[in-house]
Amino acid sequence: MEIIIQPTPEAASAIAARMVGRLLGEKPDAVLGLATGSTPLLLYRELVQMKLDWSCVTTFNLDEYVGLASDHPASYHRFMWENLFRHVNIAEKNVHIPDGLVQDIPRFCRRYEMMIRVAGGIDIQLLGIGSDGHIGFNEPSSSLASRTRIKTLTEQTRAHNAAAFGGREQVPHHVITMGVGTIMDTRQVLLMAFGPDKARAVAEAVEGPITAMNPASILQLHPVAKIVLDEAAATHLRKADYYRWVYDNKPNWQKV
Ligand code: F6R
Repeated sequence: MEIIIQPTPEAASAIAARMVGRLLGEKPDAVLGLATGSTPLLLYRELVQMKLDWSCVTTFNLDEYVGLASDHPASYHRFMWENLFRHVNIAEKNVHIPDGLVQDIPRFCRRYEMMIRVAGGIDIQLLGIGSDGHIGFNEPSSSLASRTRIKTLTEQTRAHNAAAFGGREQVPHHVITMGVGTIMDTRQVLLMAFGPDKARAVAEAVEGPITAMNPASILQLHPVAKIVLDEAAATHLRKADYYRWVYDNKPNWQKV
């Protein structure tokens, strides 16, 4: 794991944007795994400003609420088009987001997994983290080998996401999410976390035992996982000074 601690979410997002930009420069037909929520907003803004060529890029989003149409204001379809896709030259056929209205969910999930394989696998997976350690919507106790499937949100996650719905009561209970195993199959993971609410989950994920009670902790077993934090999200890391030193003293050829 590489832990990158930056003073602000802006500085952290700029580093994440450079990583994605470099990948698209090296591999114009890269396959990106994308996240929603407040965390990647600055990154998406930065990527838009970089005016990259998205014409051959393929994307797979982590998750979508069950029961929400793609044009629902709180759907992740809407989020992605508003915050990224409509500002770049991506081909609509290359965009994949779980369908919240699909009837046969298990069949859809198997197809989603197959589509990722057919696309050649995900080159870089962007992740946020829940304050309970969830990645995608793999809530605590999720199988660390899980694949794309339906999951039930915790009340904590429903409360966190309530603003987009105008109240917790409106937040769906169920989501379709890529599994932890699906995320672990990706070639590179870039997890971002900002703010004090994430500090405990981040410390447990990075420095605690690997446990299904903090699904992000499985990233300790991912061969290329970068964890990009602001200072507030790094406050509970015991080895923060070491991570800072490592990053500040990387050889030039390793720097992003
Ligand atoms: C979103 C997702 C979630 C969020 C997490 C953090 O697609 O999969 O895991 O990344 O809930 O959400 P924010 O960024 O809103 O704090």
